Amino acid sequence: MNNQKNISVFGATGKVGSELLHFLSAAGIPTIAVTRNKSKVKSLPFVDWLEADLADKVTLGKTMENSKAVFLASSVSRNFSTEQNNVIETAKEYGVQHLVKLSSPGADKNSPNFISRPNGEVEELLKASGLEWTILQPNSFMQNWLGEFSQTIQKERKIYEATGEGRKPYIDTRDIAEVAFTILTNPANHRNKTYLLTGGEAVNYYQVAEAISKVIGEKVDYISLTADEFKQRMESKGMPWGMINTFLTIAEFQRSGNATFVNDTVSKLLNKAPRTIENFARDYAPSFIMDTNGQ
Ligand SMILES: NC(=O)c1ccc[n+]([C@@H]2O[C@H](COP(=O)([O-])OP(=O)(O)OC[C@H]3O[C@@H](n4cnc5c(N)ncnc54)[C@H](OP(=O)(O)O)[C@@H]3O)[C@@H](O)[C@H]2O)c1
Repeated sequence: MNNQKNISVFGATGKVGSELLHFLSAAGIPTIAVTRNKSKVKSLPFVDWLEADLADKVTLGKTMENSKAVFLASSVSRNFSTEQNNVIETAKEYGVQHLVKLSSPGADKNSPNFISRPNGEVEELLKASGLEWTILQPNSFMQNWLGEFSQTIQKERKIYEATGEGRKPYIDTRDIAEVAFTILTNPANHRNKTYLLTGGEAVNYYQVAEAISKVIGEKVDYISLTADEFKQRMESKGMPWGMINTFLTIAEFQRSGNATFVNDTVSKLLNKAPRTIENFARDYAPSFIMDTNGQ
């Protein structure tokens, strides 16, 4: 198993994995990209798409049979730890040398938080697995703003959040992906390390609204919700209570000024400054503009 050459990417259609594929493809690195549904994927040079399901361990072997390294991301779900552990165990069986796990800040198997707990469980399983590992704990993604948030900007020119004036160093998923690429392709200095990744500057939603206003040429307002209003919005969407509580806690942490910590890990690993909200707003401007047909 010494001449394994591929890098396998789980979560390859996700916010970070999809960006990682671009870096791997541009570098000409043979890559196995994993999805449950190949019909929705785009082809890229040097990237082979395979269908597999983290929940079904039998499907995973073919995704790693010639792989030296694995990137592991998946959305947080009920069976998250079991599913991610299926990848860890299969990687071990197939002689994978290094696994980079996308985790979250404050990952802790004893946390009541819907995101920190399962990520903490997997971190512990990975550290005990015997694989070489690197854990990435990025702050909240700027690309989260491309979901419902971009729709309310398109339709109403408004951002609804419950973080008051609280700031956070949001990070661009392209920077996270480039960090993962750097580690996967040159793991020597990153073995068995955990990296907390932040953006370069803590910002609040008034600043995000201003950055987006500038690039779309129309004023976007941040509507600062109370915790109760935020809760009601999430309840009206049918979110499970565990997720609602987690998002309320995260919002309160930021509102009270506790989420401002910035480090220089991204700059040091990439030899360049992290992308800013102005870079993000410029690059994704079309996502915030509704076309004339209301589409
Ligand atoms: N969003 C944030 O602000 C934030 C911040 C810090 C950390 N994180 C962490 O980031 C991770 C999520 O990464 P992401 O946001 O890049 O992902 P994402 O955009 O939520 O996409 C989820 C990915 O997981 C794949 N997936 C889910 N279940 C799967 C299964 N059973 N089998 C195979 N693939 C499966 C999906 O693939 P298919 O649908 O194509 O099969 C998709 O590619 C989580 O651990 C989260 O805690 C997120």
